[in-house]
Amino acid sequence: MNAKRPRVQVRGLTKIFGDEAGAALPLLKAGQSRAEVQKATGAVIGLQDVSFDVDEGEILVVMGLSGSGKSTCLRCINRLIEPTSGSVLVDDTDVTALNERELMEFRRTRFGMVFQQFALFPHRTILRNVEYGLEVQGVAPDLRRDRALTAIETVGLKGWDQHYPSQLSGGMQQRAGLARALALDPDVLLMDEAFSALDPLIRRDMQQELVALQRRLKKTIVFVSHDLDEAIALGGRIVLMKDGRVVQQGTAADFLANPADDYVRRFVEHIDVLGVVTAGDAMRMPAAVKPWQSTAAEALAILIQSGEPVVTVVCHEGRFQGTVDAETLKQAGDTELRLLLSDREACVPGTATLNDAVAKLASGRGEIAVIGPDRELKGVIANADLVAALARRRSETTH
Ligand SMILES: Nc1ncnc2c1ncn2[C@@H]1O[C@H](COP(=O)(O)OP(=O)(O)OP(=O)(O)O)[C@@H](O)[C@H]1O
Ligand SMILES: [Mg+2]
Repeated sequence: MNAKRPRVQVRGLTKIFGDEAGAALPLLKAGQSRAEVQKATGAVIGLQDVSFDVDEGEILVVMGLSGSGKSTCLRCINRLIEPTSGSVLVDDTDVTALNERELMEFRRTRFGMVFQQFALFPHRTILRNVEYGLEVQGVAPDLRRDRALTAIETVGLKGWDQHYPSQLSGGMQQRAGLARALALDPDVLLMDEAFSALDPLIRRDMQQELVALQRRLKKTIVFVSHDLDEAIALGGRIVLMKDGRVVQQGTAADFLANPADDYVRRFVEHIDVLGVVTAGDAMRMPAAVKPWQSTAAEALAILIQSGEPVVTVVCHEGRFQGTVDAETLKQAGDTELRLLLSDREACVPGTATLNDAVAKLASGRGEIAVIGPDRELKGVIANADLVAALARRRSETTH
């Protein structure tokens, strides 16, 4: 991970609903369970000691079943709900320490929020809806129009600015809601079940677009969802909540490889392993690697000893160049490997999923390279490794 400070730091957030919050907190701190505290005081524990970081430019998904505390958590970040204890830091600012006036200003300039209900004004055009936040900020009409139109274009609604919300489909209205948040150019976007009301196909499109948009705009996004598939589609880290607490945080692949408890194990039981485990997770060190100026005879000796299906060939700087199989080597004597290379494309980045790896393996010669951003060789995956990885996951989730 990078050594950079996270953009958002959530520390020990606790939220107790009800008039008896004051009486409930000491009981909770003394180790009583949520149910015990509720029974004794009538107070509902919405959140209990929730901590996580969100890095700059990351989409962090807060996931959990209904009532697990996701919305409470999101709303405590910008204090739409006042936390009972704990703190939220955005860069250097302790949001929980701001007075009311400072908080309003901070919310307006640093946070954007998108809800499941699009909450557009029905009698305003899309343009005027998207302009709304800028209008409240007192931005001059010309400038706010420009910024609103840019945001409308960003979310793919160009040409719809003079329409009214009722003339747009649900998906388009949600785009308008997103444009309204983006027009303010916030550092941190808080999205609560933003796509949950959309049809499955449109929802999937929106997920992909959000990922693309986020790469381009480098926003920091906290995205609440009860849907594991959605969390996986958004591709980042997941904070999994249950009964107001964090059960585990990490990537979906982490949850699969090292589930914190049975709850997490059950949660990821039906996960599509090929879609979440990355090539980097599944790769191993290759036993037959040769620089490209080596001879075929040298490579053949190593290949036979290794049991690999092909020799992986790298340049003198360690970048993947291609592979050569035993048949080719046997007939090539002292020829240099660089003249025998094939399969320059038999490789995937470490961040690719096993789905991508499978496609490459199917069209290749039984082994592919896993490479870094400059094509440097990181490892390999052979057919057998893939089968072993799948078998491992299967036995983990069925026991
Ligand atoms: N204003 C409130 N007063 C009392 N209890 C509340 C209040 N808001 C939320 N709760 C309780 O806090 C817990 C967490 O609620 P929250 O809305 O954060 O859940 P959620 O994970 O967002 O659920 P969903 O997926 O249904 O939106 C629930 O038990 C809920 O009943
Ligand atoms: Mg909710």
